[in-house]
Amino acid sequence: MKKILHMSDLHIGYRNSKDKFLKIIDELPIDKKEASKYVVIITGDLVNNANKFGSYEEAKEGLAYLKKRGFHDVLIVPGNHDYGSGTKGHKKFVRKVQEAFYGKEIVFPTVDIISRMAFIGLDSMAQELNWYDALFSEGELGKRQLERLGEIFLKDRIRACTKRVVYLHHHPFQWRPLHQLKDSRKLKRVLKKAMESGVSIDALLFGHNHQGGSYNGRWDIPRCYDAGTTTLKARSKSISWAPWFNIRSSTRVIDLSRNPSHDYILS
Ligand SMILES: [Fe+2]
Repeated sequence: MKKILHMSDLHIGYRNSKDKFLKIIDELPIDKKEASKYVVIITGDLVNNANKFGSYEEAKEGLAYLKKRGFHDVLIVPGNHDYGSGTKGHKKFVRKVQEAFYGKEIVFPTVDIISRMAFIGLDSMAQELNWYDALFSEGELGKRQLERLGEIFLKDRIRACTKRVVYLHHHPFQWRPLHQLKDSRKLKRVLKKAMESGVSIDALLFGHNHQGGSYNGRWDIPRCYDAGTTTLKARSKSISWAPWFNIRSSTRVIDLSRNPSHDYILS
């Protein structure tokens, strides 16, 4: 069974984040041969500001470098900064994100089955790009995406998998004003219904608040992880004093074949 390397919130384009990311990849304690045994999941905010020309290209350089290091399975979902400035998104970036990072038109949730494990990616900005709610840093999956997610768990090929991993950008347990996943309760209902129908949800992975941390056991899901900010994007000085704005990198190695106590954060 493949292991998971969970990263998030690279914010490439912010100061020297790209160079930091390349260095982090270089220094991963996983050699090239071992790397093929991993699936890398990056839960959004690949770039710091989608409006900044060349940001996607820089992020793609980072993803290409991961592949060069032997990590051939790299899965991503977009975050609020991938669709705009972070506090103001725009629909024009939907097509741009798909072209840049997927190379084709896609409909969320995405499904990748790798070594009999199902990886289901959600776009938590899907319903957050209308003119009336494209402000602040909230997320919303939307009714249609949640319906499609429910349908995915009914499919034989998903039910036949040994594990199921759901990943998204916004933090489903974060109630801080203006940072919430607005339809978190609805997501919980869909995942609970899937579990009640006899399939496991083995991990729920996310980022967004840059704080890292583990919430294992929430919603009866054994692994719920926030990867923090892999490149340690700093908060502005005016707010960094507040404990709830502390930042952390929680790049984590997750081995679903073992007990969660064996998962660990790379220093
Ligand atoms: Fe972020």
